[in-house]
Amino acid sequence: MNKTKIAVLISGGGTNLQALIDAQKDGVLRHGRIVLVLSSNSIAYGLKRAVEAGIETAVVTKKQAGSQEAFEQGILEELEKHGIEMIVLAGFMQILSADFVKRYDRRIINVHPSLIPAFCGKGAYGLRVHEMALEYGVKVTGATVHYVNEVPDGGEIIMQKAVSVRKNDTPKILQKRVMAEAEWQILPRAAERVAKRLMAEKNARTRTYRIDNIGGLLAENAYPGRGIVIGESKETGKAVCAYFIMGRSENSRNRVFTLKDGELFTEPFDPSKVKDPSLIIYAALRKFQNRLIVTNGDQTDTIYEFLEKGQGFEQALETRQFEPDEPNFTPRISGMITFGQNQDEPGFAYKMSILKSEDPEGSRCGRYTYSYEPEAGLGHFIHTYECDGNPLPTFAGEPERVAIPEDIDAFTDELWTGLNTDNKISLYVRYTDPATGEYEERLVNKNTK
Ligand code: GAR
Repeated sequence: MNKTKIAVLISGGGTNLQALIDAQKDGVLRHGRIVLVLSSNSIAYGLKRAVEAGIETAVVTKKQAGSQEAFEQGILEELEKHGIEMIVLAGFMQILSADFVKRYDRRIINVHPSLIPAFCGKGAYGLRVHEMALEYGVKVTGATVHYVNEVPDGGEIIMQKAVSVRKNDTPKILQKRVMAEAEWQILPRAAERVAKRLMAEKNARTRTYRIDNIGGLLAENAYPGRGIVIGESKETGKAVCAYFIMGRSENSRNRVFTLKDGELFTEPFDPSKVKDPSLIIYAALRKFQNRLIVTNGDQTDTIYEFLEKGQGFEQALETRQFEPDEPNFTPRISGMITFGQNQDEPGFAYKMSILKSEDPEGSRCGRYTYSYEPEAGLGHFIHTYECDGNPLPTFAGEPERVAIPEDIDAFTDELWTGLNTDNKISLYVRYTDPATGEYEERLVNKNTK
């Protein structure tokens, strides 16, 4: 898990720090990890707590730094060194400038020992807060965890907890009770809430560029159906294309892949058992001039015929729709690699398409085309079903980004091993050198005589 990296800033005893350390141990704080404890005071007891918990420490004092600017610069350097993503002020007795807090907008939280907006702001910190509360004569006080902005104790409130004032309370007694009953309770929970949000935001940002291993994706999915992968091999820039079929019924399990003149076909394994050949017997992969077409049905031929007429992939697929296998309305998935026209332009590009029902009744067809510029080691994977089910849920979202190894046997093995043992039927993998057009291929059939 890609946990949010937290720095806890302290100046003193560090009992709130201890509450955070304990929360981390108990799993209350689980979307964040304390990686640094920074103290503005070199003899703060909190530093000992950090060392005991095996957390790195740093000391930056205002006195040594000489100015607020140099002090904050010293803190920033420590934070950056540790890749800090979130800051918890836990008894940090220094005010941070507007410039500093802006850098960590909604990433710094503070615990304050009163119910804000009472007894807060400049000068109201530590024991003084409780003196103010007792002087005023409030019957209820408490603690607040809030975001830190440029106004001291002025940022948005995240959590509060009230604590009753008792007749004989002194500032010290009240401080202790507010800590135990409120601060140590709400600070870890608020920290977890913010760490979780930041982790989710980070994951959302990186998801776009994440590359999965296809073996892992397949191992988690008992029935992706039929699948196409197209991409570029990791080192030598080969155009990679893979196609697999799976089956649940006897009719669809009764198939093998065969190769004829560099083209791939599905055929019945035992012809006497064929009940309905229409959706299971087709040309899966064909070549037309500098184009390689791969699909999960007879739209391979439609695309081929359109190319012959000088028309394109999208135009061909405009004339087709998902399969008529109610209630699944299995999508038609297609891919096409276009190789460079001549030796001077040896590259390639590829497209993928899915034609799918836009509603459970199969009354409207959505046609999606994806066009890719290849990148070394990256492929795109589209398959017919999200997972097993009745009816089978149609593939959703964009083609998945998967890693393409350099070695054809490693990739073939990763695919075949990843596919569910009961449901997998056949697999074909082709690695083409775009400069020469020469290719290597692997064919795996579960049904063998
Ligand atoms: C805590 O009561 C905290 O709320 C307060 O200082 C104490 C630190 O204790 N913070 C402020 O007043 C900030 N304005 P600790 O070092 O034992 O956690």
